[in-house]
Amino acid sequence: MIDREILLEKIKTSPYKPMKAKIIEACMLTEKEKFFRIELEDKINLSHEPGQFVMVSLFGFGEAPISVCSSPTDKGYFDLTVRNVGTLTNKLHQFKKGDIVGIRGPFGKGFPVDNMFGFDLVIVAGGLGIVPLRSLIRYITYNRNDFGNVEILLGCKTPKELLFREETHEWMKRSEIKFNCTVDKADPDWKGNVGLITSLIPGININPTRTYAVVVGPPIMYKFVIKELVKKSIPAHQIVVSLERRMKCGLGKCGHCQMEGAYVCQSGPVFTYDQLQNFKGECHEKAA
Ligand SMILES: Cc1cc2nc3c(=O)[nH]c(=O)nc-3n(C[C@H](O)[C@H](O)[C@H](O)COP(=O)(O)OP(=O)(O)OC[C@H]3O[C@@H](n4cnc5c(N)ncnc54)[C@H](O)[C@@H]3O)c2cc1C
Ligand code: FES
Repeated sequence: MIDREILLEKIKTSPYKPMKAKIIEACMLTEKEKFFRIELEDKINLSHEPGQFVMVSLFGFGEAPISVCSSPTDKGYFDLTVRNVGTLTNKLHQFKKGDIVGIRGPFGKGFPVDNMFGFDLVIVAGGLGIVPLRSLIRYITYNRNDFGNVEILLGCKTPKELLFREETHEWMKRSEIKFNCTVDKADPDWKGNVGLITSLIPGININPTRTYAVVVGPPIMYKFVIKELVKKSIPAHQIVVSLERRMKCGLGKCGHCQMEGAYVCQSGPVFTYDQLQNFKGECHEKAA
């Protein structure tokens, strides 16, 4: 029989046990997406890398993987942005400042920031894809001298679906960042581009060998955006994407996220295009 103290110690240190965390800020960004600023118990830092995710748990509703959208340089708290799509996310949308959630993580492999030092960056975000990319963009703006030219291309269906509106206005004003936004369908107040995000890529001026492209968006976007980036001669190992799979444990144990022998929760969610090519097609449909 397992000694009770050992059992208690195991529970205490178990990676399956969520940490208690308090919502310190909550607001709707759009009709479907809510922003949460969260503080871990004892204000410890999450110490994540841009591109990593956490498992958010609500007692009685289960867990969901959600990308961290703050930068590791934001200390004492971290940010999440959640789209209301089902049971857990719907319940989470009812949570407000002061409420407690469970957090496990951070999990997964983030964007290869260390490899990207000194390179020019083209960041391509479609819809909710801006969520993990906000973490990278905030990191870059804090460490601006570590990177070359930075160009952000953001696309969404309509202007009212645009996330982080105020921040995007700030990015637009910064002289050392090029920011370009497009919507599929404009409204009368929209003054920016209209058209698919792929329409912005031919206009970018890059030196492909010294450029990393980081792309996150809905599955359909990957195929067409990657095609345009390849036309620009960016090498496959310098095209970076993030995949979305059903996840349960986040620890490489349950197999839910498995894709051709790889556990996306551990080897990903971030992969390079040359790694994707070895996955024989399935992940091209699942990328998000
Ligand atoms: C690595 C990773 C990072 C993510 N980051 C974010 C994020 O930052 N913000 C955000 O809003 N969402 C994110 N998601 C998606 C999020 O995890 C799902 O929307 C969530 O698990 C749905 O839970 P639910 O109980 O509300 O929905 P359910 O009631 O379980 O399902 C509702 C609908 O959502 C679909 N769905 C459920 N789980 C997933 C999933 N993992 N991937 C795709 N579709 C799913 C179901 O097929 C169904 O159509 C991420 C997913 C992954 C794998
Ligand atoms: S989520 Fe369990 S193995 Fe990846």
